[in-house]
Amino acid sequence: MILFVQPHQFYEGDALFLLLRHLLAFLPQMKKDNKIIITIDGWSSCGKSTLAKELAAALDYVYVDSGAMYRAITLYFLRNHVDWSHEDAVHEALENISLEFVYNPAHKQSEMHLNGENVEYVIRDLVVAEKVSEVAAIAEVRKFAVAQQQRMGHSKGIIMDGRDIGTVVFPQAELKIFMTADNAVRVERRFQELYAKNPNVSLEEVKNNLELRDYIDSHREVSPLRKADDAIVLDNTRLTHKEQFQKALKLAQQKISGQ
Ligand code: DC
Repeated sequence: MILFVQPHQFYEGDALFLLLRHLLAFLPQMKKDNKIIITIDGWSSCGKSTLAKELAAALDYVYVDSGAMYRAITLYFLRNHVDWSHEDAVHEALENISLEFVYNPAHKQSEMHLNGENVEYVIRDLVVAEKVSEVAAIAEVRKFAVAQQQRMGHSKGIIMDGRDIGTVVFPQAELKIFMTADNAVRVERRFQELYAKNPNVSLEEVKNNLELRDYIDSHREVSPLRKADDAIVLDNTRLTHKEQFQKALKLAQQKISGQ
């Protein structure tokens, strides 16, 4: 209708007319910038972070590895001998923790910094992996991490992976993916990853750690790992890397274009 109105008819409404014209000019851009929130939850070592990173790069979205936050908190607790069975000790420790994702242009990725130190690699050690599920089950730790995660999603255009992202952190997310794969496949993948860094690691050790983490993560009282009712299951046991990525990208593009 606006197309049939002549500018000279807007003697009193010049400002309104200009505003409408301005909005019309921006419509295509607004459509293009229709950013959404994508959550990827699932069991340990089923490739959540690999997929999330690839999707973020393809869509020019921000990728956030929420597990890195729980790992960094665990590292702080271990280094500082925090007795996490005591609420006061946890409370005091959290007051001294500052977490930040800092982009590393050399590695083309955001890396976890704990109180200004880059801990991206040390938080992947088995020593941290052995305790992280215990620490991540503490209500105050989750409150601390979730508040920061929710702030990161304010302007959308974000992909976050974890265990409770679609259920607790962003229950309103436009696209929720729940990833899974057979246990044996996950153990083998994780083993290969750790073995490359430390040839002393055994398959048995990796298997035990994975099973224990999955058990604790899905049985804890606060925000246990579970599939959100509206999440789409992506089982990658028999999918190639490329097939998995293409499936997820298609889902994301459909949501972004409003289908
Ligand atoms: O994704 P990851 O393996 O790096 O996660 C490490 C641990 O952190 C995992 O055992 C469970 C916990 N975690 C969590 O409880 N909630 C999240 N949103 C992400 C991770």
